[in-house]
Amino acid sequence: MSATADIAVRFRSPASADEPASRQAERRRAAELLERNNAVLVAHYYVDGELQDLALETGGCVADSLEMARFGRNHPARTLVVAGVRFMGETAKILSPEKRVLMPDLEATCSLDLGCPADAFGRFCDEHPDRTVVVYANTSAAVKARAHWMVTSSCAVPIVAHLKERGEKVLWAPDRHLGRYVQQQTGADMLLWDATCVVHDEFKGIELDLMRREHPRAKVLVHPESPASVAQQADLVGSTTQLLRAVTEMDADEFIVATDAGLFHRMRQLAPSKTILEAPTAGKSATCKACAHCPWMAMNSVGKLIDCLSGGAQPIELDEGVVRSARNCIERMLEFTSRHPATTAPPATGFVPNIGAA
Ligand code: 13P
Ligand code: SF4
Repeated sequence: MSATADIAVRFRSPASADEPASRQAERRRAAELLERNNAVLVAHYYVDGELQDLALETGGCVADSLEMARFGRNHPARTLVVAGVRFMGETAKILSPEKRVLMPDLEATCSLDLGCPADAFGRFCDEHPDRTVVVYANTSAAVKARAHWMVTSSCAVPIVAHLKERGEKVLWAPDRHLGRYVQQQTGADMLLWDATCVVHDEFKGIELDLMRREHPRAKVLVHPESPASVAQQADLVGSTTQLLRAVTEMDADEFIVATDAGLFHRMRQLAPSKTILEAPTAGKSATCKACAHCPWMAMNSVGKLIDCLSGGAQPIELDEGVVRSARNCIERMLEFTSRHPATTAPPATGFVPNIGAA
């Protein structure tokens, strides 16, 4: 079992005693429907806490995008219900075309996916035929069909380091902050597409610096989709699972976390004695402050899950040719990460990398 799957299985969370009866009844109904449909719930850490709890209670998983892909591919259920955003459902379908893949809301997309249309990206690739095309998971199936490698935030650095060792130059899309971070870490020759995540792009380096002065003992954990001014102050830059592991395993009581607030549900369950502070998205005097929660992840709910399992949802369908082409880049990543498991999970102590100028 991978370290990530292990973290999902070790900490199952029973329904809370003071939860309203109607919510418990809704959860029971969703659990029954999952069983009746021979379906398993594959949820991302950013979705509603109730959906995360339901996934763990019913034998599904709550994970980062890499582990969601692995879990969905390996699970024997005939139906996968992916609670997350569209690219996660598409990845599940590409890896398991024989399974039915449902989502609570098929309209749940991602600003990175929207910021990298397949036709424009195809032209970019055509202009640079000498480069190895590496795309982030947060892209459409059609964009993946043009790529040699897909990566997630947990394995982007080791995979690009491997390509650099082989003397390959990289064409990277779509997240420019993650691309720049990977470039810094590996020294690879990378040409970057220019898109950002609407959530992580809002974290502010200057405000984070002030917050760190107010909380000098706090460790700073940052998702690599954040701007350089934020990542530079991090004690750990990592994927959602890597940030979660850091909170449970790092020797510190207080953490400032720059990622979607959905992850705090699991962090607080797994490390109840620790203090988790949201990284700032604006100054104290700001009249407008971002909420650090993905609007598309927020479209998932237990009610919509019930609707989709009651026959109200279209399964994900993809063009067969696109599936065939897109599968190669995903399989390549899964094969690499299973050969190098240590590179995609942080060590138990001495978390790396600290790229910090902190
Ligand atoms: P992870 O791969 O770290 O789960 O991130 C996915 C994502 O969409 C972050 O915004
Ligand atoms: Fe996309 Fe950002 Fe939402 Fe993640 S948090 S799904 S990168 S918009």
